[in-house]
This record gives sequence, C-alpha cells and structure tokens, in this order.
Amino acid sequence: MAQQEDVFKKIVAHAKEYGFVFPSSEIYDGLSAVYDYGQNGVELKNNIKRYWWEAMTLLHENIVGIDSAIFMHPTIWKASGHVDAFNDPLIDNRDSKKRYRADVLIEDHIAKIDEKIDKEVAKARKRFGDSFDEAMFRQTNARVVELLAHREAVHTRFSEAMNANDLDGLRQIIIDEEIVDPISGTKNWTEVRQFNLMFKTEMGSTADGSMTVYLRPETAQGIFVNYLNVQKTGRMRIPFGIAQIGKAFRNEIVARQFIFRMREFEQMEMQFFVRPGSEMEWFKYWKEWRLRWHKALGLGDEKYRYHDHEKLAHYANAATDIEFQMPFGFKEVEGIHSRTNFDLSQHEKFSGKKIQYFDPELNQSYTPYVIETSIGVDRMFLSVLCSSYEEQALEGGDSRVVLHLPAALAPVKCAVMPLVRKDGLPEKAREIVDELKFDFTTHYEEKDSIGKRYRRQDAIGTPFCITVDHQTLEDNTVTLRHRDSMEQQRVNIADLHSLIHSQVSLNALLRKI
Ligand code: GAP
Repeated sequence: MAQQEDVFKKIVAHAKEYGFVFPSSEIYDGLSAVYDYGQNGVELKNNIKRYWWEAMTLLHENIVGIDSAIFMHPTIWKASGHVDAFNDPLIDNRDSKKRYRADVLIEDHIAKIDEKIDKEVAKARKRFGDSFDEAMFRQTNARVVELLAHREAVHTRFSEAMNANDLDGLRQIIIDEEIVDPISGTKNWTEVRQFNLMFKTEMGSTADGSMTVYLRPETAQGIFVNYLNVQKTGRMRIPFGIAQIGKAFRNEIVARQFIFRMREFEQMEMQFFVRPGSEMEWFKYWKEWRLRWHKALGLGDEKYRYHDHEKLAHYANAATDIEFQMPFGFKEVEGIHSRTNFDLSQHEKFSGKKIQYFDPELNQSYTPYVIETSIGVDRMFLSVLCSSYEEQALEGGDSRVVLHLPAALAPVKCAVMPLVRKDGLPEKAREIVDELKFDFTTHYEEKDSIGKRYRRQDAIGTPFCITVDHQTLEDNTVTLRHRDSMEQQRVNIADLHSLIHSQVSLNALLRKI
C-alpha cells in the first residue's frame, strides 16, 4: 500500500512536470481542490471527451447532445431535491479545528478493520504455504472471526444510520468505536451536522434586485429542463437520449486524492428517456454498454468492477458504480442510475408546465422514466493517467518513464526529429510535419540527443517518433519508432500517414466497443 502511495505521488509530480495538471492559482499558493490542465492535459482531456461524445452521438442514432448554461433558475434545485437533500454529514474536531465527513471517518475505520483481517490472512498463508485454505481459515480462526463479526456490526449500524439520515446515530458510531482525529489524535468531536454542497452566488446588481443562484452540482438538470425543447424540436421518439458535457461544482468538505475529488470538475452525462416499466431492461443495457466503452481502451479488464448501491440517492430506484483500480484502491469513476420519473415529475410540479410524452404506439401519454449514465471527466483522466504510467528499467542499466496512453487519447500522436540540425535534415523533417499536421497533433523536435528526445516523448505518451537521417534524403524513408516496444522500423514517408492513422484513430477505438 505504501508503495502504491509512493507511485501515486510520482504520478502527481509527473503530471505537473510534463504539463498535464497544475494546481490552480499556484503562484498564490494554490486553491484547495481546484486544478488547471496544462498543454498536454487539455489535449488528453479533449480526446477523452471526444471519445465519450462520439460513442454517444455517433454510435446511437437516438442520442443527441446539448450544451446548457451553468446558471439555472434556482427553483430547479428546489424541484430536484438538491436544496434540501444534497448534503454531507459533517463533524468537527474541537482540538485540531479540522472538519471531516462523518461517513468517511467511519468508512476509513471499517477499511482499517479490513486491513487487520487481511494481515491475519497473509500471515497464515505464509505459515501454511500451499496447503492454506483461506475460506476455512476465515471461518475458524478465532481472531479473524471476532474481527469479521465486529466489522459486520459496525457496517450494519452505519448503513442503517445513513439510510435513515440519522446524524446522532453516525456520531454514536464514532464515539463507540473510539475513532480519533488523525491530526490531533483526540476524540473531542462536535455534533454531526448536515452541510449542503452547492455553491451559491448572487445574480443581479442591487441588494433587493438580486437573487440567489447556484453553480450547478450536476449537469443532468440542464438536460431535464430541456427535455421538452429537444423532444419537440428534434421530433424524438422514446426511447431516446440527451448527452451533455460540462462543468459542475461541489463544495466538497474533504477534498483529496488530487483530481479525484475536486470542487470544480467536469461531467459527461447522458439521460436516456424510456417507457415506464422498461427502465430495468435499459438500466441493464447501459450498465453493460458503459463497461464496454471503458474496456475498449485496453487499460486492463481486471481493473474494473461494478459496485451496486445500498443507499440509493433520493431520485433513484437502482444504481451502480463502475469502479476503477486507482493506486489508492477501487474507486468510483462512473455512476449508472435508474432515476425513475422523479426529475421530470418534479419539474412538472414546480414549473406548472405539462412535461409528458404522447406515445403513438400505446396511444397514451406518460412521464418518461430515465436511465442516467454519469462519468467525471477528471476521474476518467486520472484512471487513464495512473494505469498508463510506468517506470521501466531498460537494458544496460538505463531507465525511462513512459505513459502507455491509449494511442487515440495521446496528446501528441507523433514527433518528427531530424537526426542532426544540418545537411538539410531539419527542412526535410519540416516537410513531413507539414504533411502530417492536418490529421495528427505533431511535434517537431530538434534539440538534444535523439535518446533524450525519445524519452521526452515517452514521458508524455507519444505513440510514434519519426527520425529523419541522411538516408532519408536519398530514398525518402524514415525510422518509425514505437513507444511501447521501442521497436524501430524503416518506412516510406508516403506510408506514414496510413500507418499512424491505423493506430491512433478514434474511429478504430469506437469500433472496439
Ligand atoms: N447526475 C448524477 C451525478 O452527478 P454522482 O455520482 O454524484 O452522480 C457522477 O457524480 C460522477 O461525477 C462521479 O462518478 C464522478 O466521476 C464525478 N464526480 C462527482 N463528484 C466529483 C468531484 N467532487 N470531483 C471529481 N469528480 C466528481
């Protein structure tokens, strides 16, 4: 685990050093849980968004996109339930003056019990070797049985308190389990309070003429309030979907793990409107399809798992997360939710406008049900970055850091390098750049030794390096170097385009889904 934490620190440092992610407002010492994307980060992020957008809108003829405003009428957040229910339970430690999420303190405590159990199992495995029967050990070892029973009891109390929004119950678990503040080491806790995660601001100039508006905590509501507009103007027939990519804001109490939990982040959401009664069928469809989208990237099938929700959000009748194995454990990257007709019904009630669909096949009107797929761009970015990062030992005692990014997502697709800065090689290299740049993000690199230039491109995940040498001037061939294998092949300049295209095109990736 400690080793994984070290790797994660290195990834964060690498992201900064190579222009992927910078802390926001860094020259003013940063702004907590807010980040900026640099010259390579923005390309990777845009490619992720393009992969998602095209998978939704090109591969599904019944999905269209919109781009709604961040500011919306404040009543929308009353109708959606966010004003009343978009809360986290918060607790302060009186000694350290630090604020925590009560549920996270308890979850971390349960994780510590799990670690103790794992340690006992690992010790026994070492002792018994090949004859070790883990299932039997878990059932019979007194220490493990005791730990498991304890874990189960805490977990049950925790689930019950969360489901009932029982703040005193949460606090009592913290007291009974003697959970201490990681900073002060004391148990001097305040009461647990609800904390609303929405940012507020004022719209309008004068004190009495202004109104309180919220920065949207999810992009989904922009889709719900445009449901009628899109359905009517696009003559959409159910089932159909509306996709949107945009910023969302949450005043997270505990912001941690780099870009995993941010206060300003980006979501890619799709609401799929279906006939009432068919929602579980579509829930299953989207659950499977979204996992296929992830797996097509080739980051490793074993790195994904589903996590079905025990506690459902106020609007859902089924929900699952797609979790990805980050260096700090399996974590949610995407949520798939069956949101019933909750949102459209609420907007109908609060706006007084009829929001119904006339189904010509059934000859009846109804409020559509909704399946939502909701993925954070930044978390997706983090999963791609973490799983691509490798420190590789090379023959001869050399080493390199390489990002094995899926080629279609790489910020730079190819780098063209004259072997030396004379004899007409730079001019020849420029000619190649001028041909390739219309289709691929292409770098021209002439500074430093060829080895150093390769390393720099490896570090940002460039799939191809093209080296122009003296032979190029004679026979129009170049060396094409592959990032992952480091293999080099001699190819004709005329073949470069199709060779690169076959590996880096989004089209090829979309076909894998
Ligand atoms: N419309 C449903 C919705 O917003 P969610 O599970 O709260 O559901 C969906 O969020 C996705 O948004 C998450 O799976 C995650 O990828 C991303 N996300 C949520 N909060 C985030 C945060 N503070 N920082 C970065 N990404 C976040």
